[in-house]
Amino acid sequence: MAPNFAALRREFPVLERKTYLNSGSYCALANEVKAAFEAYLEDRLRVGADWDLWVAKNESVRSLVATLVGAASEEIAITASVSAGLNSLASALDFSGSRNKIVISDFEFPTAAQIWHAQERRGARIVHVPRSSDGYIPASAFAAAIDERTKLVAITHVCFRNGARLDIPGIVELARAKGAKVLLDCYQSVGSMSVDVKALGVDFAAGGMLKYLLGTAGMGFLYVREALVSSLVPADSGWFAQETIGSMDITANRPAPSARRFEAGTPAVVNCYAAEAGLRMLLRVGTPAVEERIRALTAGCMRRLREIDWASVTPSEDHRRGATVAVPSRDAVRLVQELKDRGIVTSHRDDNVRAAFHFYNDEADVDAFCAALEDLRASLGPTSGAG
Ligand SMILES: Cc1ncc(COP(=O)(O)O)c(C=O)c1O
Repeated sequence: MAPNFAALRREFPVLERKTYLNSGSYCALANEVKAAFEAYLEDRLRVGADWDLWVAKNESVRSLVATLVGAASEEIAITASVSAGLNSLASALDFSGSRNKIVISDFEFPTAAQIWHAQERRGARIVHVPRSSDGYIPASAFAAAIDERTKLVAITHVCFRNGARLDIPGIVELARAKGAKVLLDCYQSVGSMSVDVKALGVDFAAGGMLKYLLGTAGMGFLYVREALVSSLVPADSGWFAQETIGSMDITANRPAPSARRFEAGTPAVVNCYAAEAGLRMLLRVGTPAVEERIRALTAGCMRRLREIDWASVTPSEDHRRGATVAVPSRDAVRLVQELKDRGIVTSHRDDNVRAAFHFYNDEADVDAFCAALEDLRASLGPTSGAG
């Protein structure tokens, strides 16, 4: 049975007051996630420090993330952020040999590109795959960059700037043919569409809780394919990355046999409560239904934009788009402010305004956004030739 999206929408109180189109930055807060935060405070008042409960919460988050991305719990590290997960992974890679190239794309989120560039002083060579003249990066554009010297292809699933979705299976195929590994930054996709790491064939994947996973900041995850875990020993480590957390051994580094070896220190306990509630809600709704709903909303938005003759920098083909529709403006900062003044929450990147949709949005949100744009077109529309 299809989820009752109208009823689900009522679980997000901010939607009564705002047209909330900012899930690509930070999701709307659900009543049950708010209740989870409160439960944390109650537990602290009632029991004080309940480590067994907190460890169980952290493990629950691990297992829910594993279910969501189609992995085993042992393949998931729960990290403080995507950045923390990537740094830990990078610290386990050796760039001293001839296979020292890392291929990234021009669609990467800054932290991903910056962390790989930070490996240059360890011998890594970073190659950027640029966008084509139409603004997209087809899989074929990676062919020239990926070769026998490529260690890793580190790519975003959906671009945070323009909502473009890369052809991951196509890129994975190119990487496999040259013996390179693939890392997927799925922060802008996970929770807004089905992300099955096994079906996609990636070796590593990283994401976090505050966007489409309905949780909060301060918690991310790193997937590491089981067969690779034992050969990767992170130089970034800590007591929660050890085989036995409670061993308190100060004589050696003994990494956990699972992907937990990519963790570091004390888990963000309060965030575990929120993340667990958000993930449970999302899994209840089901990502195939979420994906279908978001596709309909973004397609509807693209259609309305064509009607009001406001170009979008987001690909029009459904399979090349994530949950974000981005539109150029002659002053994106002011446009975000004007929309905010009208109760419409968006964000801007470069010269574009981003409207990011989740399952709790509806057609009325698309209408409100496009009607406001039409109203503001004379002063804030794209400069001629833009888009
Ligand atoms: C695609 C993508 N990757 C990475 C990040 C940053 O993640 P973190 O702040 O958890 O390191 C973001 C955050 O907006 C993102 O959109």
